[in-house]
Amino acid sequence: MAAATDLEEQQPATREPVLSIRNISKGFGAVRALTDIDLDVYPGEVVALVGDNGAGKSTLVKILAGVHPADSGTITFNGAPATITSPTSSRELGIATVFQDLALCDNLDVVSNLFLGREPGRGTIDEEYMEQHAWELLRQLSAKIPSVRIAVASLSGGQRQTVAIARSLIGEPRIVILDEPTAALGVAQTAEVLNLIERLRERGLGVILISHNMADVQAVADRVVVLRLGRNNGVFRTADVSYEDIVAAITGATDNPVSTRAGRADEKDA
Ligand SMILES: Nc1ncnc2c1ncn2[C@@H]1O[C@H](COP(=O)(O)OP(=O)(O)OP(=O)(O)O)[C@@H](O)[C@H]1O
Ligand SMILES: [Mg+2]
Repeated sequence: MAAATDLEEQQPATREPVLSIRNISKGFGAVRALTDIDLDVYPGEVVALVGDNGAGKSTLVKILAGVHPADSGTITFNGAPATITSPTSSRELGIATVFQDLALCDNLDVVSNLFLGREPGRGTIDEEYMEQHAWELLRQLSAKIPSVRIAVASLSGGQRQTVAIARSLIGEPRIVILDEPTAALGVAQTAEVLNLIERLRERGLGVILISHNMADVQAVADRVVVLRLGRNNGVFRTADVSYEDIVAAITGATDNPVSTRAGRADEKDA
């Protein structure tokens, strides 16, 4: 019975995953970018997606974001089969993706960036509503933005990341995907973004965090999913795994028994 308890502890309570992908494969010509990838994300959970350059992280994100179609495999969202055919269908499903370049408009202020392309009230832009909603959103995220009426160009890297994450929440997603959100940030700004990720988890969102920074991963992720050469190479609970074990799974150093075991246990769970 000890084994059963161990397995139960692998995942948060009895909840169903909000996102479940199975056997996702994707090739670009002769390049097999992804082969039979499985991934689960539960509500209120931060899953770090890690792997060396070329492991397939961005390709997986782009499939979920509707940028590329998968060649094969299934996606289940909120318990129902889902087809993601475009960025719009990904958003409508409830997946918000913050790409590394953030795609903010530097010359526009924070409010305008938050509502870009989704101004409420069809044509008539309700500035007062947008400004209030912007403040409310940033307050919920405990974001440190001096004013919502300053141009995004004058914000720091961490503040820009905050605006991009806040913008992703406007559509009320269930899953937020962050691609290297701390890559260009200093120590204090990184801490702010990690706090922000914890706010997202508190709101019950599932977060997929792509990062090369193991300190960030260990600080904020509940589970770590390792990709190597386009394949799953282990799933770990962050609390149970050492830095060395994650690195071994990323680099494929030997037949690491810890990574193989953890990966097997998690797959049985699914
Ligand atoms: N549009 C594309 N056309 C052809 N090959 C691609 C394309 N996008 C990705 N690839 C290939 O697919 C593989 C996985 O790339 P991907 O960008 O997903 O890796 P990654 O894990 O995000 O790496 P990094 O950490 O460097 O961002 C690589 O071999 C890459 O060259
Ligand atoms: Mg990438």
